[in-house]
Amino acid sequence: MDISKTDILIIGSGIAGLSLALKLKDLGEITILTKKRAFETSTSLAQGGIACVMEEDDSFELHIQDTLAVGDGICKKEMVEMVVKSAPERIKDLINWGVEFDRDSENPKKFHLTLEGGHSRRRILHVGDYTGRAIENTLIERVLEVENIKILENFLIVKLITEDLLKPSRISGAFVLDLIHVKPVIFLAKVVVLCTGGAGKVYLYTSNPDTATGDGIALAYQVGCRIANMEFVQFHPTCLYHPKAKNFLISESLRGEGAILLNAEGKRFMHKYEPVKKELAPRDIVTRAIDMELKKTGAECVYLDISHLPSDYIKKRFPYIYETCLKFGIDITSQPIPVVPAAHYLCGGIYTNIWGQTDIPNLFAIGECACTGLHGGNRLASNSLLEALCFSHQASLKIKNMWNELKELKIKPPLIKETAVKEIKEEKIFISHNWDLIRKIMWDFVGIVRSLKMLEFAMKRIEFIKNEIKENWSGIYLDLDTMELKSITIVAELIVRSALQRLESRGTHYLIDYPFKREKYQKDTIIFKNF
Ligand code: SIN
Repeated sequence: MDISKTDILIIGSGIAGLSLALKLKDLGEITILTKKRAFETSTSLAQGGIACVMEEDDSFELHIQDTLAVGDGICKKEMVEMVVKSAPERIKDLINWGVEFDRDSENPKKFHLTLEGGHSRRRILHVGDYTGRAIENTLIERVLEVENIKILENFLIVKLITEDLLKPSRISGAFVLDLIHVKPVIFLAKVVVLCTGGAGKVYLYTSNPDTATGDGIALAYQVGCRIANMEFVQFHPTCLYHPKAKNFLISESLRGEGAILLNAEGKRFMHKYEPVKKELAPRDIVTRAIDMELKKTGAECVYLDISHLPSDYIKKRFPYIYETCLKFGIDITSQPIPVVPAAHYLCGGIYTNIWGQTDIPNLFAIGECACTGLHGGNRLASNSLLEALCFSHQASLKIKNMWNELKELKIKPPLIKETAVKEIKEEKIFISHNWDLIRKIMWDFVGIVRSLKMLEFAMKRIEFIKNEIKENWSGIYLDLDTMELKSITIVAELIVRSALQRLESRGTHYLIDYPFKREKYQKDTIIFKNF
């Protein structure tokens, strides 16, 4: 079996992985593995922007308070403070790498700041309505300029390799499938960093790219990392509702600039659910309000209307959304946009400390796959790109600090035989059917509003699929869909098990049997594997 050696192995090519590679570029050889093309990340799809205190009328204290309030009582304050206070420096990093945020048309010395739900001030830097794509493209360009950073596309990581394969121990690399040459490869590394993003594909409807199958979380769980707060799945209130549209987000910044929500009868409804903030209430509240309206009216979607604003302004401020909706026959300058909620962001993930370190020595996790404590029970809009940037900086400091020790580290190749890798023999329909089942179970029973009966029902079904996988497809298969099915099954199970443990309603986790918050309740829901 091919064995490759690298100093630092980064899994994932979104903002977390790319910015970390740039920060560590002088240390040694860095390899970034990505399972599809480098730009196929959640970062690329981020529209709204990145939050940072920029103006005199704003303060770190206000951004901290907004983050804590939306997080619904269980954010870790030290994490929130670190992120909010280091945001201006991290924005400078992006600008130095070449990201050009939109400027204020009246005062080009200043940036144009937009507003989103839960923010008490305008503090979101953006590049039109395609901020993530602008950041992703710029960072890929910078990374490609550095000789000792390699991006390898179409490499799927299927197993983390630890020194002792049978108990939690130091990381020494990863077992990977080269999807183009259809063969296994071992990558040995002194440090491995999971930047694999979220798990929206666990749900039938999601704003996430196809790559968001929670691989990093499933892998980290299997080697003994603690996984935290998986019950907190954030549903974005407004994804385009159209039979041909797949995962197209209608950014919250439309509401920030004045768009209103209408039900199927053409009536505004948000004041009934949140009389003060209305459309700009935190996402969980807006999402549940839409869910309630859909259930009440029996309609398939609600509408987001920005057509009262000048048409030239809409086209200039939201060019990507305008063009995309037009392709589907919707002119947003004159028509309301049909929208529905969809799974958007996982607030939980691999439990990490303030340096991005996991429970496994030399294994880090950054970005959506991590649970740092910043988001608590619900993420404040536009805090996600920021979290990835801040924690990649933190991890870079820690890795530099450890480097002398790591340089001397001798890594032994693991005892994995090539024969451990198998090919799918039967029809792939068995795999695709289980994919569809998991996503439907999660959407129907572990969605915006949950009940214990629904969660138990979902658990039984997921356990059945898990056993079927164990009986028929245990081990490593040279097939992306099969290996991703294993990831989504593990992640779905972790979400349901966590949801069953949190007997209260908080943040994005709404349980009809326990509709209130409990005062004295656990902060984190932790799950780990028993070896
Ligand atoms: C959006 O533009 O609505 C998404 C921003 C985010 O998820 O923070």
